[in-house]
Amino acid sequence: SVLEMEVEQINKGKYEHYMQKEIHEQPESLKTTMRGRLIRGGSCKAKSVLLGGIKDHLKTIRRSRRIVFIGCGTSYNAALAARPILEELSGIPVTMEIASDLVDRQGPIYREDTTVFVSQSGETADTLQALEYALENGALCVGITNTVGSAIARNTHCGVHINAGCEIGVASTKAYTSQIVVMAMLALAIGDDTISSQARREAIIDGLFDLPKKVKEVLKLDQEMKDLAQLLIAEQSLLVFGRGYNYATALEGALKVKEVALMHSEGILAGEMKHGPLALVDETLPIVVIATRDACFSKQQSVIQQLHARKGRLIVMCTKGDAASVCVGGSCRVIEVPQVEDCLQPVINIVPLQLLAYHLTVLRGYNVDQPRNLAKSVTTQ
Ligand code: G6P
Repeated sequence: SVLEMEVEQINKGKYEHYMQKEIHEQPESLKTTMRGRLIRGGSCKAKSVLLGGIKDHLKTIRRSRRIVFIGCGTSYNAALAARPILEELSGIPVTMEIASDLVDRQGPIYREDTTVFVSQSGETADTLQALEYALENGALCVGITNTVGSAIARNTHCGVHINAGCEIGVASTKAYTSQIVVMAMLALAIGDDTISSQARREAIIDGLFDLPKKVKEVLKLDQEMKDLAQLLIAEQSLLVFGRGYNYATALEGALKVKEVALMHSEGILAGEMKHGPLALVDETLPIVVIATRDACFSKQQSVIQQLHARKGRLIVMCTKGDAASVCVGGSCRVIEVPQVEDCLQPVINIVPLQLLAYHLTVLRGYNVDQPRNLAKSVTTQ
C-alpha cells in the first residue's frame, strides 16, 4: 500500500536499500553495542568490561574445559572471527560448530563445556535445536542474540544482547560487526586480569573505544568499492583468501557476495592454498587477498607472491601505507584500510567487502534486501 511504502522510505532515510543503510549505520550500531559496557579506567581503576548478563556465570565459564561456539551463516563467521582472541585471553580451548552439523553428528557435549549460541534473530531453527541438545547434555548455555525475548535469549542460562538495533536486510551486516565486538568483550570478561595480560587488554579496550571512528573512515571507500564492483560485474566467480584473525573475513566476504550478488564466491584459508585452490588460479579469476598487518603478514606476502607467479588477478586488502609492500610488480589493485588492534581488524576489513557485495548486487540488477530464495530468519529445517 501507499502507506507501507511511505513508512519504508522513512525507515530507510536517505538510503536506497536497508542493506546500504545498515552498512553505513555501523559506527552508530557499534557504539550502541558497547554503551555502558566498557570502563575507561582512571587513576586507581583499571580499564575493564562489564557484561551484566553473564557476570554471575563468569566463575563457571572460567572453570569450563572447553568453550564451544555454535551458529549458522554470518553468526558462525562472527564467532570464528572472535575465536583467536577468546583463546588467547582465556587459555581455554575454543571449538566451532555449525549448528546443523552438531545436531547431525550428535557430537559430544559435556557438563564441563560452556556452549555459546550466536544468532542475530535468536530464532534460527538449527541453532535452537543445537541449544536443546546442549541443554539435555548439561552444558552451560550462553546466548548472544540481537533480539530481546527471542527463543535463544529465553532458553539459555545467561547471555549478552548485541544491541545493534533492528536489522532488516536479509544479508547480515551491522549485526556481524556488533557480534564480533560482543565476543571480544566476552573474551576480555572471561580472561583473567593478570599483570602479564594487562597491556594487551588495555590496548584492546582502547581499540574498542576507537573502533566507531575507524569504521567511519573505512566507509569512505564506498565509491572505490563501487568502481571495483563495476569492474567485476560480469564475473562468474570471486575467491577471497584470508588467514588468522581474517580467515572469518574471507568466509564472510564471500558469503555476502554469494548471498546478495548471486555470484559464486568462496572464502579460502590461505594456509590451505597449496592443497587445492592454487589449481584454480589463472589470468582471469579475480582473487581478493586480505593482507593487513598482523602476525600473519609475512605469510600473506608470500601467498601474494605465489599467486602473482601464477599470473593471478589480485585485489589486495592491506593496511594504509602498505600498498608498495604488498603489490608485487605493481600489477594488482589495492584496497587500503585503517589499522586497529589485530583482533579487532576483522570489524574493519569486512566493511569494504560488504560495500562491494552491495554495489555488485545493485549493478547486476538483483534484489539487495531480499535475495532470491533466502529468508532473514530460517525457522524451519
Ligand atoms: C539466515 C540469514 C543469514 C543469517 C543466518 C543465521 O541464513 O539469511 O543472514 O546469518 O540465517 O541467522 P541468525 O539469526 O541465527 O544469526
